[in-house]
Amino acid sequence: MSGQGSSSDPIDPNTPPISSQTNHHTMNITPHTNRRNVLKLLAASTAAPLILPRRMFGADAPSNKITIGCIGVGWQGAENLNSFLGLDDCRVVAICDVDDKHLKEAVNRVNARYNNQDCKSYKDFRELLARKDIDAVCICTPDHWHSIPAIAAANAGKDIFCEKPLSHTLGEGIAMVNAVTQNKRIWQTGSWQRSVASFRWAVQLVQNGYIGKVTRVEVGLPSGHADFEGTGKDKPNGPVPDGVDYDFWSGPSQLLPFNPCRFHKNWRWNYNTGGGQLMDWIGHHCDIAHWGIANPQYGCGPDDAVGPLEVSATAEFPNKEDIWNTATKFRIECKYPNSIDFVIAGGYDDIQGGAKWIGPDGWVQVDRGSFKASNTDWIREIQKLDKKDDLKVSVYKSENHHKNFLDCIKSRQRTITPVEIAHRSQTPGHLGHIAASVGRKLKWDAVKQEIIGDADATAMLTKKMRAPWHI
Ligand SMILES: NC(=O)c1ccc[n+]([C@@H]2O[C@H](COP(=O)([O-])OP(=O)(O)OC[C@H]3O[C@@H](n4cnc5c(N)ncnc54)[C@H](O)[C@@H]3O)[C@@H](O)[C@H]2O)c1
Repeated sequence: MSGQGSSSDPIDPNTPPISSQTNHHTMNITPHTNRRNVLKLLAASTAAPLILPRRMFGADAPSNKITIGCIGVGWQGAENLNSFLGLDDCRVVAICDVDDKHLKEAVNRVNARYNNQDCKSYKDFRELLARKDIDAVCICTPDHWHSIPAIAAANAGKDIFCEKPLSHTLGEGIAMVNAVTQNKRIWQTGSWQRSVASFRWAVQLVQNGYIGKVTRVEVGLPSGHADFEGTGKDKPNGPVPDGVDYDFWSGPSQLLPFNPCRFHKNWRWNYNTGGGQLMDWIGHHCDIAHWGIANPQYGCGPDDAVGPLEVSATAEFPNKEDIWNTATKFRIECKYPNSIDFVIAGGYDDIQGGAKWIGPDGWVQVDRGSFKASNTDWIREIQKLDKKDDLKVSVYKSENHHKNFLDCIKSRQRTITPVEIAHRSQTPGHLGHIAASVGRKLKWDAVKQEIIGDADATAMLTKKMRAPWHI
C-alpha cells in the first residue's frame, strides 16, 4: 500500500457497523472508524481472529501502515529517516526541508527504499501538516525550530517524534507539553539512550535500591565546541547557498547575516538557535539521571517528572558577539527533593561523562560504551534479572526507540520518553543557563514551574520570537 489513503478514511459509508467478539472484548468497526482507530483495534486484539468486511481489504482498505512525514532531514533527521525506513509498520510519505539539497537527498532515499516515486516534497511544514493522510511526523529541525512545528502538529492531530532538547526555551517546553497533552497525542523524544539496554540496567540498579537511598547524582557532559561541519568558527558572513530559504531557516530566531559557521549542525554553538554543549546533551545524560531517581523509595520520584528546588551555576562564556558564543565550560549545582545533590558539569575532571548515582551502599555509572558499579557482581546480576523480568521495581523496557513510537501510536500508550518527561529532563539545563547568566542561585517551584522571586531570571524563561512566528 502506498500509504496515500486518507486517515478520515475511504471506508464505504454504506458498510454496516460490525462487531467482532474476541476473548477479551468486543470491537465495533463503523463506517467512521478511521485508519488510526483500526490500527489501535488490531493492536488490542490478541487472541481470536478479527472478522472484517471484504471491502476493508484491497483498494478500499485503510492502510495498515502508519504514515509519516519528516520535517528537517539534516544530520539526525537523516538518521531518524533511515530508522523509520527500516521498519515495516510505517511508510514515510512526505519530506520537508528548507534546504533543497537535503530535501532531494531524503526524497530520493525514500523512493529508492519503496521502489516508487510517491514521496512528496515540501518546503513549508504547514503544508505537510495539512495533509489528512499523514498520521505522524518526525521533527528534526534545529532547536529554535522545535516548538512551532510540534505544537502545530499536535493541533493538527498528528503523533510526534521530536528531537531533544525538547525546546529552545523552558517556556516553549511548557507550551509543547500542554499542546501534546490537550490533543492527546503520542510523543516520542529522540532521547534514544532510554532504549539501550546498558542505560536501562543502570537505572534498574538504582531504582531497585542496590546503592541505597540516592544522595548525589553527577551528570557529565562535553565542553567547548565541536566543529561538526568543518567550517571553523570565524568565517566571514557570506552568500546564502543556492537552494536554501535562509529566512525560513532562521524562522522565530533573529535574522542574522548568513554565516556558514552558524548554519547546518554548527547552529548549536550560537544562542540565537541552540544552547551549546549543555543543551545539546541535557536530553541524553540528564534524562537518564532523572530516570534513575524516579522511585520515591530510593530517589525522589514517583515518576521521572522530577525537578530541582534550587539551582546555582557558573559558566565560561565567549563574547556575546562571537559566532560561537555558547558556554565552553559550566557547572550547575542543584538541590533536588529528599536532599539529593544533583550536579551537571561540562569541562570538570571530577565529573565523569554520562550519569552517576551515589548512595550509602555504593555507586552506579553509565555512559555510551561504559556501565560500571561499585560492586561488579551487580552488573551480571541485573542483566539476568532484566532478562527474566524478575525485578521488584520494573522499569519501562524498550529495545527499539523508533519501534516503541510506532507501537505506542497503535496502542495509544505512553512511549518510553513522552513529552513531559523530555521537558523535565531539559529543565535543569535551562535553569542552569539562566542561573549562570544572572550570577545567582535560583529557587524553582517545580509544580508551578516558576522561578521564585527573581524577575530578571523569570524573563529569561521565554524569548521573543521574530514575527510572524509565535506559539
Ligand atoms: N538524538 C540524537 O542523538 C541527536 C543527534 C544529533 C542531533 N540531534 C537533534 O536533532 C535536531 C537537528 O540537529 P542536526 O544536527 O540534525 O541539525 P542539521 O543542521 O544537520 O539539520 C537540521 C535540518 O533542518 C532543516 N530545517 C531548518 N529549519 C527548518 C524548517 N523550518 N522546516 C524544515 N526544515 C528545516 C535544515 O535545513 C537541516 O536540513 C536538533 O534538535 C539536535 O539537537 C539529536
